[in-house]
Amino acid sequence: MNILVVGSGGREHAIAWRCAAEGHKVWTAPGNPGIAAVAECVPLESQTPERYLEVANLINADLTIVGPEAPLVAGIVDLFESHGRKVFGPRREAAQLEGSKAFSKEFMARHGIPTARFQIFDSLAEARAALVRFELPVVLKADGLAAGKGVVIAKTRAEAEAALEGLFSGDLVGAAGSRVIIEDFWRGEEVSFIAICDQDRARALPPSQDHKAIFENDEGPNTGGMGAYSDDRILSGEQKEWILNNVILRTLEGMAAEGMPFRGFLYAGLMMTADGPKVLEYNVRLGDPETQALLYRMEGGFAETILAATEGRLDSARLRIGAGASACVVLAAAGYPGKVRSGDVIEGLDEVEGATVFHAGTRREGDRIVTAGGRVLGVTGRGESLRAALDAVYGAVRPIRFEGMQYRRDIGQKGLKRYTD
Ligand code: GLY
Repeated sequence: MNILVVGSGGREHAIAWRCAAEGHKVWTAPGNPGIAAVAECVPLESQTPERYLEVANLINADLTIVGPEAPLVAGIVDLFESHGRKVFGPRREAAQLEGSKAFSKEFMARHGIPTARFQIFDSLAEARAALVRFELPVVLKADGLAAGKGVVIAKTRAEAEAALEGLFSGDLVGAAGSRVIIEDFWRGEEVSFIAICDQDRARALPPSQDHKAIFENDEGPNTGGMGAYSDDRILSGEQKEWILNNVILRTLEGMAAEGMPFRGFLYAGLMMTADGPKVLEYNVRLGDPETQALLYRMEGGFAETILAATEGRLDSARLRIGAGASACVVLAAAGYPGKVRSGDVIEGLDEVEGATVFHAGTRREGDRIVTAGGRVLGVTGRGESLRAALDAVYGAVRPIRFEGMQYRRDIGQKGLKRYTD
């Protein structure tokens, strides 16, 4: 197939890499210097659904896979479908599951999908008055898309009030915070559960675990994700079955019943509480950096499965996923997740062995690759066990260097504590 991958980060590099490994001709818009090694990159002056459609027409794409959420929420799938172009992802209405936290919470409440107790507010005064009805810590969420920066876990009333002010004033995440959800905080471990969905059928990918905080031991502010690993043992067979039936399939049934059938990657961000799994949030796309770890375990059938789901015949596809475990460690720029410095020269990429480096925030300057974003690289490896995968990844990180490079040394440690290998 001629496949167009929309996006330019580590997730899109992994998607392009996997599709190319399966023998397809891959194009990426806009792509990045790492992706250019496996796909043709199409530079874009604007990243609108219309521009992506022009690219798909130009290359006569048989299938388009959309990486990030913004084009989905902007209606790229509706536009492609109206022009007869095959594209994998939800239509604009269904993408609200990620585009509006208020929509997704009310949807879960309507359909009995387990999630934390919540209330939705359109004014600072009402939200502030309601804080007394929630115990501390309390979770405050911006309704709209906020690139991972729209959730605050406040440990004190003062922190909660300051966060509400920051959200409603627009200081924290702009217009995305003009509506706010306050919800109960649940303790537990987070798990990313992602399924390839075809309106009423779902093919679950192996479970994975992200590491959102910038520092080790989950300390410091949240990021887009500092690393992830995938290991089937993150969930028991019984837990997987329960989540598939009570979260993923129930969501598909609910969306279909409300006239918004869902096709695409459905990502349930779960908190595994003492009271069972609760949905923290939905995403309507693959996770980043979960994708890098997940696709590294695949041994075939990824692109064919996506095409089958796009054509409404998911049952006919065979996705081959290898045993063992995989992991991705993100190397981030100085200052991330705050204001980052760009333009630092990245050295040592040619010396990496035993793993693959997916590019996220990089740029080519002559014959050098330099930093050009917060999350710069995702070093990704695989092994027979989680320990072997982590050894491969951290060994591969060693030769890579750039000024101010920061990364977590404890990716996968929660998994290692559970099963020692
Ligand atoms: N890694 C979290 C996300 O993709 O939203």
